[in-house]
Amino acid sequence: MMGVEHLRNLAILPGAEIVAIADPVATSVGWATDALGDRAADVARFDSVEAFAKGADVDAIIIASPNNTHRDVLERLFDMGAAILCEKPLATTIEDARWIVERAAGHAKPFWTGMEYRFMPPAAAFIEQVHAGRVGRLQMLSIREHRFPFLPKVGDWNRFSANTGGTMVEKCCHFFDLMRLIVGSEAVRVYCSGAMDVNHLDERYDGQRPDIIDNSFTTVDFANGVRAMLDLSMFADGAENQEEMSATGDAARLDVLIPAGELVYSPRVGFLNPKQVERSHIAVDPAAKAAGSHEGATYYQHAAFAAAVRGEGPVQVSAEDGLRAVAIGTAAEISAREYRVVTMAELGL
Ligand SMILES: NC(=O)c1ccc[n+]([C@@H]2O[C@H](COP(=O)([O-])OP(=O)(O)OC[C@H]3O[C@@H](n4cnc5c(N)ncnc54)[C@H](O)[C@@H]3O)[C@@H](O)[C@H]2O)c1
Repeated sequence: MMGVEHLRNLAILPGAEIVAIADPVATSVGWATDALGDRAADVARFDSVEAFAKGADVDAIIIASPNNTHRDVLERLFDMGAAILCEKPLATTIEDARWIVERAAGHAKPFWTGMEYRFMPPAAAFIEQVHAGRVGRLQMLSIREHRFPFLPKVGDWNRFSANTGGTMVEKCCHFFDLMRLIVGSEAVRVYCSGAMDVNHLDERYDGQRPDIIDNSFTTVDFANGVRAMLDLSMFADGAENQEEMSATGDAARLDVLIPAGELVYSPRVGFLNPKQVERSHIAVDPAAKAAGSHEGATYYQHAAFAAAVRGEGPVQVSAEDGLRAVAIGTAAEISAREYRVVTMAELGL
């Protein structure tokens, strides 16, 4: 799914050329070939990462294989000496993520973790305004994702925490990454109440029932005193907005609604005074929006990654960022399982 979304976005990215693809499953190569359309004849196709590493000549590599394969795939690709964008979550364990951070530090070309929610235009505007001080001194950040259940995946890898890292890593690493970025500090302790209560209950794969959280509340305390929370439901597909974020400071509250693209600014006016709410709308390029299912985020992330590959811009989401998001997600998974607060210090961070 995500590989095809990357191909569709690269197709409309100025100056980008798709040279080669690799996937061990023939039907997936077929979907990629369909997405390439007329350009497919010029694209080399490989059925393994090893063959790709030997046969492809590329400036940059996008990794969109299942979460639990990222380390293994990277192990074969670092030596190609190309820039790398690896999909989130960076890995399924802190140990693997640390290994990737160490290898990325010695890699001469850019290494980028695919945290594209940062690049959704309404989210990016929200982040910019909070950083510019629009809410005053930020004290509280709340993020809600209410969405549809996990989609079917190739080989059903996303049904089991062993393959994904668990929902709080797999899905929620995006939101923990946003929290770190918006708050500008590191997480200190995490409490998560969550379980699989509605989805996947009747599903069986080789006789095994899925074990992935489908709803949770998570609070994250940051070192600078800001508190953040995540409200996740994977059985709320009827919600008008899939993501909502609220930043509340000592001067105002700012909300963003996605996909509505609406920003709502609510300055403090005192108990008795009329409200002075201001609403604005953040537009998304229709071509970018049409090329994926992430509100144009994949396109804008690619534009920023391409600038980094050309030496014209910074790496905006490092391997270390990827590790930190995995670590908060891991803390949330442990917290939900053991009904307790988990400190980042006990995870070595
Ligand atoms: N950034 C986002 O918002 C976003 C959205 C969806 C998925 N993702 C991430 O993208 C990755 C892929 O997810 P998906 O939804 O596309 O899953 P998918 O099952 O649709 O696709 C995964 C593909 O990887 C292939 N594959 C399996 N093992 C491989 C290996 N060793 N080497 C190369 N290819 C291999 C599979 O055959 C399949 O075609 C995951 O890490 C996922 O978390 C990110």
